[in-house]
Amino acid sequence: MEYITIALAKGRLAELTIDLLEQAGLDISELREKSRKLIFTDEKNKFKFILVKATDVPVYVEYGAADIGVVGRDTLLESGKNLYEMINLGFGACRMAVAGPKELEGHLDEIHNMRVATKYPQIAKNYYHHVKKQSVELIKLNGSVELAPLVGLSEVIVDIVESGKTLKENGLVVLEEICDLSARFVVNRVSMKMESERILALVEKIKTLLG
Ligand code: PRP
Repeated sequence: MEYITIALAKGRLAELTIDLLEQAGLDISELREKSRKLIFTDEKNKFKFILVKATDVPVYVEYGAADIGVVGRDTLLESGKNLYEMINLGFGACRMAVAGPKELEGHLDEIHNMRVATKYPQIAKNYYHHVKKQSVELIKLNGSVELAPLVGLSEVIVDIVESGKTLKENGLVVLEEICDLSARFVVNRVSMKMESERILALVEKIKTLLG
C-alpha cells in the first residue's frame, strides 16, 4: 500500500489538525514529540505527515508532493491554486477585511487611487477589481500591516481580523468585510482519483467528528 501524505501548516493550525487526525484514528504520536523533524510516518495506517510553511501547503498539494493539505482559506485564496476543497474544518475562524482609521468610514469610494497595504495582494486585487470595481494601488507587506495607515504608507489595509485586538490597539476599525475564513482540508486532483477510497474514508471520519 502506498503512503498518503498530508501537508500541515506549521503553527497553531497544525496543532488543531493533529488533534483531529488523532481522533480520526491516525497515529500521530511521533508528531507530538518536540523535535525539528519535518516528516513523520504512521506505519500502521500508511500515512506520512509533512510540516511546511502555511503559504507552501497549496504548492505541495498542487504538485502532488502531498496528497492532502490543511490550510487557512486565506492562504488558499491567495495561492490561486485549483485544489479540491473537501472540508471546512471550522477552526482558525476569522475574516478578511478592509480596515483603516474611523474617519474614512463612508468615504472609501471617494479616494482616488487609494493605497492599500496587504500581505494578501491577490485577495485584495480580486476584491477591488471584481467586487468594488475600483482602481487602487496595492502595496505588498509581509507583516505588521496595521502599521501602514499609521505612518502614511497607505490609506487602508486588507488583512485578517480575528479578535480585532490588533486593530483596536492601533486605533483602526473594520471598514468593509471581504469574506469569512477558516481552515480547509484540500486534496490533490490526481490523488483524489488514485486514492479515492482511503481519502474519502478519512474525509467521512473527519466530517462525523466535526458533527
Ligand atoms: C495577524 C493579522 C493581524 C492579526 C489579527 O497577524 O495579520 O495582524 O493577526 O488578529 P487579531 O484580530 O486577533 O488581533 P499575525 O499575528 O500573523 O502577525 P503579522 O502581522 O506579523 O503577520
